[in-house]
Amino acid sequence: MSPKGILCVLALVTILPLVLSYDFFITEGIRNYKFRYSAENVYKFNVTEIDGKISSMNQYKNKTLIILNLPFSLEARRIYVLGLLFLKHYNKGLRIIGFPTDELTPGSHADDKYNSPVFMRNYIRENQIKFQVYHKTLVNGPLAHPLWSYMKATFSLFDNCITNNYTMFIVDKRGIPVQRLPEDERPFFEEIEDAVVPYLYFQ
Ligand SMILES: *[C@@H]1O[C@H](CO)[C@@H](O)[C@H](O)[C@H]1NC(C)=O
Ligand SMILES: *[C@@H]1O[C@H](CO)[C@@H](O)[C@H](O)[C@H]1NC(C)=O
Ligand SMILES: *[C@@H]1O[C@H](CO)[C@@H](O)[C@H](O)[C@H]1NC(C)=O
Repeated sequence: MSPKGILCVLALVTILPLVLSYDFFITEGIRNYKFRYSAENVYKFNVTEIDGKISSMNQYKNKTLIILNLPFSLEARRIYVLGLLFLKHYNKGLRIIGFPTDELTPGSHADDKYNSPVFMRNYIRENQIKFQVYHKTLVNGPLAHPLWSYMKATFSLFDNCITNNYTMFIVDKRGIPVQRLPEDERPFFEEIEDAVVPYLYFQ
């Protein structure tokens, strides 16, 4: 290969990843950078309840939170595990709050039924969800809920999309996101409990 050819290949190899990550840098990255410094804790954010009512996150002051996203087709085992954890540590101030999203479910976007309070009440009942569930929420991209942008931005500047149906953030009693749990397929009770329990005792 001629020197020119080699330069060409080098240029491509350098530029291509930049082009591919453009989306993260511009939409997620810079946007989240802004959120990283725009809030001191989660309490300034508002969230929407399943019936459309707006409520403030400041109702969770002095509570340790697990905030997670949920798909609309739930795995019973995961919900069971979270329910157990919630009931076990409720008196120590643990609250679990779920934000259903269809963003990670191929082909089901913008389905209006998810906005219906009746559908959502059935979803909560049929899946036996013991913890608080909010209205359908966007967690990625430029229209993501600001609470989610803020939580993501706390842990990384770039490439911080939610890619797992059950991504969990731990928020301490001061409202500060302190952990983003690894996004793998192991929803074991002990792992989540080990991660969250220290924050229940931290004043
Ligand atoms: C949250 O809702 C309250 C009451 O509706 C409003 O005054 C406040 O500006 C909202 N906060 C944000 C960050 O949107
Ligand atoms: C915070 O919650 C803990 C128990 O969850 C309680 O013992 C403590 O008194 C509370 N602190 C404040 C300032 O409300
Ligand atoms: C999320 O859950 C939905 C519904 O169960 C499934 O179709 C989808 O593949 C899952 N997405 C990921 C990224 O695991």
